Amino acid sequence: MDTQTPQFRRDFLYYATAGTGAVAVGAAVWPLINQMNPSADVRALSQIRVDISAVEPGTQLTVSFLGKPVFIRHRTDAEIAQARSEDVSSLPDTVARNPNISGDVLATDANRAVAGNENFLVMIGVCTHLGCVPLGDGAGDFGGWFCPCHGSHYDTAGRIRKGPAPENLHIPTMSVSEDMILTLG
Ligand code: FES
Repeated sequence: MDTQTPQFRRDFLYYATAGTGAVAVGAAVWPLINQMNPSADVRALSQIRVDISAVEPGTQLTVSFLGKPVFIRHRTDAEIAQARSEDVSSLPDTVARNPNISGDVLATDANRAVAGNENFLVMIGVCTHLGCVPLGDGAGDFGGWFCPCHGSHYDTAGRIRKGPAPENLHIPTMSVSEDMILTLG
């Protein structure tokens, strides 16, 4: 991952401007974001909690977890409708890639979104081709994410639609509480 690219810096700068109080464990997460050189004890964190209640529709919060960016997207109604209108059987990767559901379930929008909070999509922000960090905010031909390294386009459910990436963006192990605290890991 090239941390010097404008895209990478922009993604993390967006995190920095996403609003105070957005991250419940700021003291633990900020060193990763700010320095991109986590100490061993921070790297050892196997679980972090993030307050996602302030993430507005149409915006994305990016946090770092276990050395990888995690995209937390609060999708608009239009984004959700677009994702749900797709024929899953015609997708390049029909597997949900969601470890929170047992088995290789289909990559429907419901099987990719956060259970109980389907307007939220939480994904590991690593392109499944060769590991670049895709651009968000409606980037690419399908209004989701775009990886400029070799041209992979992901839709509004983070599913690969065009380009060399073989799999949908992966979803981390997670849960969301009633008061909108996301626990990763
Ligand atoms: S690493 Fe994303 S398209 Fe190659």
